[in-house]
Amino acid sequence: MPVSGLPEISIPRRLRAPAPGWTTTADVIVVGSGIAGLTTALRLRRRVARVLLVTKTVLDEGSTAWAQGGIAAVMSPEDSPAEHIHDTLVAGVGLCDVDAVEALVTEGPDAVWDLIALGADFDRGDTGQISLTREGGHHRDRILHAGGDATGREISRALIAALDRVRDDPGIEVIEHALVVDLLTDADERVCGVTLHVIGEGQVDGVGAAHARAVVLATGGLGQIYSSTTNPSVATGDGMAAALRAGAVLADLEFVQFHPTVLWLGEGSRGQQPLISEAVRGEGAFLVDEAGERFMQGQHPLADLAPRDVVSRAIITRMRETGTDHVYLDCRHLGADFLEQRFPSIVQRCRELGFDPATQLLPVAPAQHYASGGVRTDLRGRSSREGLYACGETSCTGVHGANRLASNSLLEGLVFARRIADDLTTRLGAGELPETTPVAPSGEPELIRGKRRLDVQRAMTAGSGTVRSASSLAATQETLAALAARAVGADADKQGGPKSWETTNLLHLGRALTYAAALRDETRGGHVREDFPARDDEHFLHHVHLQRSVAGALDARIVPVPQSNLDGLDLGAPVPVDVLDEDRAEGPGAAKPAARHTDSAKETEETT
Ligand code: SIN
Repeated sequence: MPVSGLPEISIPRRLRAPAPGWTTTADVIVVGSGIAGLTTALRLRRRVARVLLVTKTVLDEGSTAWAQGGIAAVMSPEDSPAEHIHDTLVAGVGLCDVDAVEALVTEGPDAVWDLIALGADFDRGDTGQISLTREGGHHRDRILHAGGDATGREISRALIAALDRVRDDPGIEVIEHALVVDLLTDADERVCGVTLHVIGEGQVDGVGAAHARAVVLATGGLGQIYSSTTNPSVATGDGMAAALRAGAVLADLEFVQFHPTVLWLGEGSRGQQPLISEAVRGEGAFLVDEAGERFMQGQHPLADLAPRDVVSRAIITRMRETGTDHVYLDCRHLGADFLEQRFPSIVQRCRELGFDPATQLLPVAPAQHYASGGVRTDLRGRSSREGLYACGETSCTGVHGANRLASNSLLEGLVFARRIADDLTTRLGAGELPETTPVAPSGEPELIRGKRRLDVQRAMTAGSGTVRSASSLAATQETLAALAARAVGADADKQGGPKSWETTNLLHLGRALTYAAALRDETRGGHVREDFPARDDEHFLHHVHLQRSVAGALDARIVPVPQSNLDGLDLGAPVPVDVLDEDRAEGPGAAKPAARHTDSAKETEETT
């Protein structure tokens, strides 16, 4: 059902960019080179005549390579799909799609074995069996890891090595340093390609157009929308934003996961921050406040290993109670030898930054980590726009609901990439999705200057971040509207360039996310409202779907969760979360951010 009551938001159809100076064609364009993009492209390579894989910087630059903890899958005889499904549904607080979760969990082990056959080398015990650990929300050891805490890097290495082995194959072309600006659509609003900016040489340089029968968006998340995040700098939501502008449905955007244990580097730290994997708590580390008191015990049966949203909220509450901006992770009892062997990268990074986990408490606070929502897809990865698919963090398959279960994201990228490749193989083979001609998009293009990124991040962190309220969301929306007004007229960027395209993507997604958050007057999963601190199953067991109308307005639809997704699921009593705070840090109505930001003179002066 459509909803209203909030000020109308207008989203342009396209970003301002130079007219394409070159053209290329493929059957399928895959955008992004994390686990989702690479798996899709590799599986499609021999099945369709021409796959074009484009990635914004270099192949291993995205979020996949930063994943520490691992990939969840039922690999032990003591575990079962039913238990993994149950843990995923509980973490998702009633908003998961059961069919999507079943697909994830039941197809996951085979997909992981195929990854191993491809060359991914997961850690093994003395007898050669795969080592499994536990993370928040899991009741079984089911997290595979590699290099101790470098799981994503190993998966990325194995997939890129597989790609390198087939680089000479004419069936696949890879273009690096290629930022997708917008989606091309035909007269029937079918997606039929992308415009993209390539920093290249010769024929493929500057803005061009790539035409295809289908486009798969696997561009990762939107972490850079906040002042601090565990996501790399490339995570600017480019795919999600392009899909939004092209009229695809986005869902569950309000559910942003803030990872509980991100190393606190002080008030002035912003951008990508060092993650302390949940697996460290899985091995026995625990949280304490500044008085050294453990505070997770008694809050949840899993205590320090409760689902991520529960732990983050408990940390925020404790920080507010004690007037501090961080708590501590105590790993000292695990010992230097164990820590160095099990978590070599984390230990090294901490020591580089002046903290020794073997001898010191680590200061930690929540920071943005994962977008549980994204481009709404069905079980085959199809979006609401014909010809457009989305995969991995860019998508909203229904697997994560209101809060992603730890280490389910690499698995989701892997499983749904295979589903997408299989669906495209069938459809293209059957002559579906014929080649078609793009039409010029309607409306004026818009673009804000890249130097406005700090303003977007600050507004999002202050009012649409870890803790939100109606007034903080309204204040953020107002600031974003003022920034959007700069996308036209004298203040607009008239030429376009990577920094401004990315920043405008963040602005568009920030407006959509804040809009969705204002429509959810309750606290659930990654969405915390200080003015509605309890879960409200009577009124909010639904999804918020957002879609740009042909006229440019952002429309919201409320889509109830089917009863079949809730049968047998015990979510427990809705317990109000005590996150009220009178001492606002960022102006009227703004919720105090747990994450940090600063006025960096360099950033503020930055131009496109
Ligand atoms: C972590 O290692 O804590 C992050 C893993 C994940 O986000 O699933």
